[in-house]
Amino acid sequence: MAAEYLTHKGVLFPGLNYSPETLSYVENKFQVRDDDVFNVTYPKSGTNWMLEILSLIRCEGDPGWVRSVLNWDRAPWIDNQTGLEAALKYPSPRLLTSHLPLQLFPKSWQHSKAKVIYTLRCPKDVLVSLYHFSHFMHIFKVPSSMDSFLEDFLSGNVPFGSWFDHVTGWMGLKGNENFFFITYEELQQDPGGSVRRICRFLGKELSEEQVASVVENASFQSMKGNQMSNFSQIPDTYVNHEKGELLRKGICKDWKNHLSQVQSQRFDTVYQERMQGLGTTFTWD
Ligand code: PPS
Repeated sequence: MAAEYLTHKGVLFPGLNYSPETLSYVENKFQVRDDDVFNVTYPKSGTNWMLEILSLIRCEGDPGWVRSVLNWDRAPWIDNQTGLEAALKYPSPRLLTSHLPLQLFPKSWQHSKAKVIYTLRCPKDVLVSLYHFSHFMHIFKVPSSMDSFLEDFLSGNVPFGSWFDHVTGWMGLKGNENFFFITYEELQQDPGGSVRRICRFLGKELSEEQVASVVENASFQSMKGNQMSNFSQIPDTYVNHEKGELLRKGICKDWKNHLSQVQSQRFDTVYQERMQGLGTTFTWD
């Protein structure tokens, strides 16, 4: 089954389970509640890791919820039909997930007190992770080569659009009191400190023991072995489980194993052009 994409307001989306009607509803009619917490990312940036951390923080480190309820039910992706239906039925306080670029995110957020946690990751690692994921998820087109995929990624010709537009859009909210950003690399380097920072943003007080339990139960190995978190329960309509897995490597700088020097330099040239003037530097810069 070859994947089809749809274009909505200049951004590509998977053809299955996404529609212009759902995306328009989410942007214009979805009612954000003051106690909603949003887990927002560009794909492959640590969405599911953050989802697990937020689920565990909500339960003060108790792993009961993450071991018994599927991640997409704990924090539905509002961007697609099934996720939106789940979000609309979700009693407050909701934990919600989205890959939407800022311009397509629910407008009602602007007048609410709901909090957004935005996780971003070294884009070369995002590229490599997405390249592998595209072989495994039927809703993504299988790349014909890394060269062609690199060009698609750099020009935003991939689902959810350009990484550069996504990051520059959301990072424009830096300093807004309802907006918090963190990198995948920070989560790797200092998981405990990162969890404590997220707790402060959420106004949640956890003991050192509870923080340690969040870190432990959201670790790569714990998530890989947890059927509620590792995508093993996604129906075959969406994935070919023999061709890959969500929790693939979970490391930083894997791009060095996949991009040639020429490809890496090509990436750097576009990166420098597009990220100039953002006013924020990252560990991978
Ligand atoms: S998705 O499909 O867009 O929602 O994917 P997303 O969850 O954003 O990203 C998947 C990558 O995150 C890695 N991952 C983790 N790394 C470290 N620790 C934990 N706990 C963890 N959970 C997920 C996952 O392995 C994917 O990265 P790659 O580089 O492909 O391994």
